[in-house]
Amino acid sequence: MRRPRNIVILTGAGISAESGIDTFRGAGGLWENHRVEDVATPDAFARDPELVLRFYDMRREAIQTREPNAAHIALARLDREWAARSGGGEVLIVTQNVDDLHERGGALNVLHMHGEHLSVWCGACDERHRWVGALLHRPPCPACGEAALRPDIVWFGEVPYRMDDIYQALAAADLFVSIGTSGAVYPAAGFVRTARELGLQTLELNLERSQGSAWFEETRLGPATQIVPEWVEELLR
Ligand code: APR
Repeated sequence: MRRPRNIVILTGAGISAESGIDTFRGAGGLWENHRVEDVATPDAFARDPELVLRFYDMRREAIQTREPNAAHIALARLDREWAARSGGGEVLIVTQNVDDLHERGGALNVLHMHGEHLSVWCGACDERHRWVGALLHRPPCPACGEAALRPDIVWFGEVPYRMDDIYQALAAADLFVSIGTSGAVYPAAGFVRTARELGLQTLELNLERSQGSAWFEETRLGPATQIVPEWVEELLR
């Protein structure tokens, strides 16, 4: 591969799998136990808020007991060292994950396109707040006092966050890397096509071939904790 300058990295549930956070699809995946329509849509929240809040309360609690793994830590190192190593190049980590393991691994430039477990959004005043506790008992919004808080998670049928920033970063990048995502959910699954159209180099790091594998110039298969640190090491060499 040619030496890149600006890099956009897309991550998915596979990067957090070895930290003990369930992926969504595949054996034992999260959606195996719950129908998406029952917990991850605005309709589900309107129909059965208790079920939805209980599901996200459990996930919010669980992620706080998990630790970043070698893949998160390697990306954070790349994020911190790349500017100096490349003469001013930039790294943006666009994650579909709603855990905070990139940040706890030390990454600085992280964009959560599907929202965050540790954030809540008030349906009454539109404010967002950092939140580590439960929502099931319907606590009041710290800003307006209304009991209208919901998980700050992008549900199916809602528009992911900061799409303009993501496309701008892709337009300014030389390399697009996808890590630990099945390529099943759009618009993230379409980033590789956009990257190819824009002339970026493309690399996939995943346990197995994803639905979008054919679009990548190069695919490396293996567990993220092994292949991500190896790739970062190569780049920083
Ligand atoms: N290392 C690398 N990749 C792994 C590992 C691992 N240890 N374990 C699993 N994978 C791969 C799987 O092979 C799969 O291709 O990670 C991918 C996980 O795919 P999904 O479970 O579909 O997760 P993701 O692609 O992040 O899902 C996208 O779907 O429901 C929504 O909003 C949710 O953000 C999520 C979106």
